[in-house]
Amino acid sequence: MASIFSPIRLGDLTLNNRVVMAPMTRCRAGVNDEPTADMAEYYRQRAGAGLIVSEGVQPSIHGKGYFRTPGIHTPLQMAAWRAVTAGVRAAGGSIVMQLMHCGRVGAAGNKDPWAETVAPSAISSRQALYTAAGMAPCAEPRALATAEIAGVIDEMAAAARNARAAGFDGVELHATSGYLPMQFLATGTNQRTDRYGGSPQNRARFVIEVLEAMAAAIGSGRVGFRISPGNGYNDMEDEEPVTTYTALLRAVEPLGLAYLHLINTPIPELEPLSFVRQHWTGPVIGNGGLTLDSAQKLLSDGRLEAVSFGRFFISNPDLVARFRNGAPLVEPDRGTFYSGDARGFTDYPQWSADVPVAVGA
Ligand SMILES: Cc1cc2nc3c(=O)[nH]c(=O)nc-3n(C[C@H](O)[C@H](O)[C@H](O)COP(=O)(O)O)c2cc1C
Repeated sequence: MASIFSPIRLGDLTLNNRVVMAPMTRCRAGVNDEPTADMAEYYRQRAGAGLIVSEGVQPSIHGKGYFRTPGIHTPLQMAAWRAVTAGVRAAGGSIVMQLMHCGRVGAAGNKDPWAETVAPSAISSRQALYTAAGMAPCAEPRALATAEIAGVIDEMAAAARNARAAGFDGVELHATSGYLPMQFLATGTNQRTDRYGGSPQNRARFVIEVLEAMAAAIGSGRVGFRISPGNGYNDMEDEEPVTTYTALLRAVEPLGLAYLHLINTPIPELEPLSFVRQHWTGPVIGNGGLTLDSAQKLLSDGRLEAVSFGRFFISNPDLVARFRNGAPLVEPDRGTFYSGDARGFTDYPQWSADVPVAVGA
C-alpha cells in the first residue's frame, strides 16, 4: 500500500514523500518581477514537501497578467531564483517552476508599458484584476498570427531552460484556470481557423507543441503539466472538453513526461480522475480540497501517485511533519493570500510537540 510518506520518482524528479505543495500565486515579487528574500524564506520553510511547485511564473513580459508576479526571462530574475532553489535544496527539498502565460487574463497596469496582451482569438476576458491603481478590466487581447505562435512556444522552452539554469528540478506547464494554454484548448476562447483551431486536435496543438518544446529543452522527465478539463475559472467556456482533452492526452502520452497534475473539478461530461486514467498511463498528482485521510485513501486505492495541497501549505509550512505527528492544522487567512508583506506569508508558526497550535489560531 502506497503511504503518503513513502518516496516516489516522477520521471527524473525524486520526491522524499508524496505530499506536493500546489502552485500558488502570492503577488509579492520585487520591482523587476524578481523573487525577493521573503519569497526565498517562504519556499525554504516549505521544503518538507516531497515536491514544491512554485507560484505561476511568467516566461516573458507578455505572459504577465497579475500584480507583482515573478518572471524567469532576465538574468536578474534568474539570479534571484537561484537563492530560492538553493534554500529549498539545502533544506532537503525539491522544487519545480510553474510556467504561467496569462494570455488574455491581464490588466495593462500590471504589465510593462511595451508588453502586449495576446490570445488565440481577440475575445476579452470579463475579469477585473487587482492593480496598483485599484481594480481594472483585462486588456483587449490581440489574436496571435499563425507565424507568431512558434515564437511563443520558443519563449516557453527558453523559460524552461532558464528555470533549470536557476536550479529548479524541472518545470510544470500551467494549462488550467483560463490562461493561454487553456485559451487554446477551449472552444469559447479559440475561434481560430488555422491549424491551432477548429478540431479538437487543432485546439490541443499549442499545448502539445509547448510540451514537446519544453521536453526537448530540458528532458521530458523534468516536465509536468497541469490540467482541469472543462473548469470554468476565469470565465472559460468549453463545449468539447471530452474530445479535446482526449486528443491532448493521447498526443502527450508518448512523450514520457514526469507527471500530470490534475485539479479535480468534476463537470457533467466527465469525472476527471477516471477520465485521465483512460488516456494517460504516467504518474498523476491529484489536487483539490484534499485532507490527509482523503489523500491517503486515493493513494492506497492506487488512483493517484502523489497528492497536492494548496491552502493548507500557506498556513502550515511544515505540513508533512504535522501529518506525520497527527498535529492540528492552522487555517489560512484569506486576507493575506495575495500581495502584502511577510504577514500571512512567512510568519505562520512551525508546529512543535511542546507548543500545540489550535486550529484557527
Ligand atoms: C492564493 C492562491 C493562489 C493560487 N495560484 C495558483 C497558481 O499560480 N497556479 C495554479 O495552477 N493554481 C493556483 N492556485 C490553485 C491551487 O494550486 C490549488 O489548485 C487550489 O488551492 C486547490 O487546492 P487546495 O484545496 O489544496 O487548496 C492558487 C490557489 C490559491 C489559494
